[in-house]
Amino acid sequence: MGNKLIGYGSYLPERIMTNADFERVMDTTDEWIVSRTGIHQRHFAAADETVADMATNAARAALENAHIGIDDIDMIIVATTTPELDFPSVAVQVMGRLGATQNIPAFDVRGACTGFIYALHCARGFFTAGIHERIMIIGAEKMSRFVDMDDRSTAVLFGDGAGALIFERSTSSYSGIIDTVVMSDGKKFDMLHGSPDHKIIMNGPETYKMAVSLMPDAARYIMDHAGITQDDIDWIIPHQANIRIIQSCAARLGFPLDKILITVDKHANTSGASGALALAYAFDNGIIKHGQLILYPAFGSGLTWGATLIRV
Ligand code: ACO
Repeated sequence: MGNKLIGYGSYLPERIMTNADFERVMDTTDEWIVSRTGIHQRHFAAADETVADMATNAARAALENAHIGIDDIDMIIVATTTPELDFPSVAVQVMGRLGATQNIPAFDVRGACTGFIYALHCARGFFTAGIHERIMIIGAEKMSRFVDMDDRSTAVLFGDGAGALIFERSTSSYSGIIDTVVMSDGKKFDMLHGSPDHKIIMNGPETYKMAVSLMPDAARYIMDHAGITQDDIDWIIPHQANIRIIQSCAARLGFPLDKILITVDKHANTSGASGALALAYAFDNGIIKHGQLILYPAFGSGLTWGATLIRV
């Protein structure tokens, strides 16, 4: 039992924080940020704008794109690590705001920067089991809530936003979410985690080293698992953390840079929202075309890492 992608949507908060905005409030430069990360700007949500607000906006856009209503969806999975409320889930808040009248299952997954793949992994399992018809996957993050303006080494890296994808059951196993692989290593907790007072604790160089090794590993593993080679892949849309990580992963895999989609320059690292946001950007700008095969590898706090293959 397979699935296919039938709609996508995204939402970015109105406020853009440029590198110059950071230069005004901390000891940093546009030159340092661009050369180390490739980031030129990021979106920051308004103080009263929540993860559920952003997720709902992206979900609404995806429903419009798919020409269906919320009651045509029979499961909602939200990838987020930054919800304002410990309960209930962002997914049920989205469902309520969109006026769902069916009591469908709705829940969040926490996989940090790999959250989008964790959500897709769940959806693939439910489609394979044949027990759901249409699943909406949303990635939504308000990373700015964790940005510590006293820590220049992490403050400049992150942004806010949300993306949503809708998949429908199909008889083809060559469309939609074709494959997923997700992994984690709890022994590496100390490398990158949130603190109880909502700050990002990160060993930057160590995180960098792990990312450029584990993302290519996951990409190779999933290509082997699916029985394909890099020639079969139309686009790599990697988790958008840092341009140097992306370039290094591409070099290790031997992928040409013109097959790699970059949005980190505009969005920065939006953690679990990164993949859905980048896919929506690629559709909106006519970069990817229906029928193309996308490889999406990711890595993040946990450690967590993995990859997915999606035929769009
Ligand atoms: N502006 C100016 N200088 C800075 C800044 C800044 N914003 N941040 C750090 N520096 C300084 C440091 O203080 C240090 O100065 P010092 O040598 O006087 O002590 C110097 O720059 C070099 O610091 P490093 O940490 O060695 O810089 P590096 O070249 O490793 O780059 C970076 C740092 C960009 C964080 C890099 O380690 C990295 O990309 N790591 C991966 C982090 C990441 O992407 N995390 C996201 C979450 S996980 C994920 O999504 C994959």
